[in-house]
Amino acid sequence: MIIVQLSDLHVRPPGVRAYERVRTNDMLREAIEHVNALRPRPDVVLATGDLVHAGEVEEYAMLRQLLAELEMPVYLVPGNHDDRGNFRKVFGDSDYLPEAGEFLHYAVEDHPVHLIGLDTVVPGEASGELCERRRAWLEDTLTAAPDRPTVIFMHHPPFRTGIEHMDLIALKDADAEALGRLVERHPRIERILCGHVHRPIQVRWRGTLASTAPSTAHQVVLDLRPGAAGTFAMEPPGYQVHTWLRDGGMVSHTASVGRFDGPHSFPDDGTGGVG
Ligand SMILES: [Fe+2]
Ligand SMILES: [Fe+2]
Repeated sequence: MIIVQLSDLHVRPPGVRAYERVRTNDMLREAIEHVNALRPRPDVVLATGDLVHAGEVEEYAMLRQLLAELEMPVYLVPGNHDDRGNFRKVFGDSDYLPEAGEFLHYAVEDHPVHLIGLDTVVPGEASGELCERRRAWLEDTLTAAPDRPTVIFMHHPPFRTGIEHMDLIALKDADAEALGRLVERHPRIERILCGHVHRPIQVRWRGTLASTAPSTAHQVVLDLRPGAAGTFAMEPPGYQVHTWLRDGGMVSHTASVGRFDGPHSFPDDGTGGVG
């Protein structure tokens, strides 16, 4: 099974840029073309929040139009730039979404890997929560689920990255701690896949592997100085490819989207082979 993770798409209305600079819609179109060209073809795509930039209905309509080009099913969870109500106005007919209730969380059980999408949004806030109600739902879902490798995907990471201005708006500490205790009780959780930080980052966390993904648009600058101001740069955009190998477990790759020289074959230059 091949799972693609797109993150932080920050889609805008047609012709409008994010932060007056970033052509997020065009960049998502290129990422989707890249995903569709992968062979073997991925089975599913997950999108880990900040689906649109300002939570507007017009942006979700644009997002829906762009995602229609994907040749595989896509599962969406919201981020701090999203608006649940406006999201539902455009994507409410998606059969994986819960019909009722406040939160946009759900499980997908049609694949060898069990997928659980979580909603960490707090309306009007940049940081995220996984309140008691949401954790209770997760606990029930994990307990009821078949005994299968499981991937949790959500926007706000529950771990610190060292990029301070992003750590200040991550999942709130108390909720991250409670989630950690829950995760430790379910060792079949192979990954916790997050977005929000606009960079690929991995950490061993509470008995599993937790990570963030690059954005399909702008990246957050790698600046580990305490107190550094938040900045973004147009580093190569990308996405994650999580492969479930029957004999090797889950293996995660980072793909870069763009025009790069190559591919070239490895000539035999006597230096010890390929790679
Ligand atoms: Fe974002
Ligand atoms: Fe975010």
